[in-house]
Amino acid sequence: MTDIIPFDQRDGFIWYNGKFVEWKEAKVHVLNHGLHYGSCVFEGERIYNKKIFKCSEHTKRLHRSAEILGFKIPYSVAELDTVKKELSQKQNITDGYMRVFAWRGSEKMAVSAQGNKIHVAVTCWTWPSYYSDEARKAGLKLKFATYKRPSPETAPVAAKAAGLYMICTISKHEAENEGYNDALMLDYRGFLAEATGANLFLVMKNGELHTPLPDCFLNGITRLTVIDLAKKRGVKIVERHIKPEELADAIDVFITGSAAEITRVGSIENKFNYPAPSQLTLDLMSDYTNLVRS
Ligand SMILES: Cc1ncc(COP(=O)(O)O)c(C=O)c1O
Repeated sequence: MTDIIPFDQRDGFIWYNGKFVEWKEAKVHVLNHGLHYGSCVFEGERIYNKKIFKCSEHTKRLHRSAEILGFKIPYSVAELDTVKKELSQKQNITDGYMRVFAWRGSEKMAVSAQGNKIHVAVTCWTWPSYYSDEARKAGLKLKFATYKRPSPETAPVAAKAAGLYMICTISKHEAENEGYNDALMLDYRGFLAEATGANLFLVMKNGELHTPLPDCFLNGITRLTVIDLAKKRGVKIVERHIKPEELADAIDVFITGSAAEITRVGSIENKFNYPAPSQLTLDLMSDYTNLVRS
């Protein structure tokens, strides 16, 4: 039931610039650079059985994302990892989600914000599943997005940066408004890229697992984990540029992400249908569950 309470009205604690503060008191001023100019980086992580999955990998990526945007997070990876663990215990989370983020503050309010204070917050809450149980069981219904993932010459594509999600929210809203669960984004060249918050995998008729080369979108931590799990099963992984019409050569499709975990795709518009899960998808889902809970 927690997910119907607005996020600014919950109880508990948030770690904010070095201190644990009451959840409702973790406020920012309306004039801050992160809000106006998108100078904010973040991580979305999961807590399973009271343990943060791939905790340091996420913190390191947060640091890298900030560097790409040209700022330095004023807490080390080790310091943030300790805070993350302390907060999840303080919040008494058994299975949940953690959001860690950093943004430029209010000292200068123009495109240039050299020297603005870097703010950092860590939050977590109980959260079961990204998609509804119904959508997960049936397989997601996806719609092709109108926006494309930009080229690395256009945007800092390797950063998990708030500004890059503008096209994701527009695309996801468009999809939801037409009765789909999510949008499938192509890249600037027209190759398959990813969903709005998760990477993409195709289980091919020949048993191989194909996934788009992450050269203009996030090389997800879950994506790398799933590649590892598939390799352990002796499955051949092919990372390449994949044309949308090649979706017809797949027997099953799934997406991966810290929030989405491994979620099957049931159909993409009325063009591609994957009515039943492949054995490989089921095996990887079970390997993933075992790993995150180990
Ligand atoms: C746009 C986008 N792509 C991919 C991913 C998957 O990344 P990860 O597996 O590291 O959560 C996410 C989730 O953070 C995302 O937002």
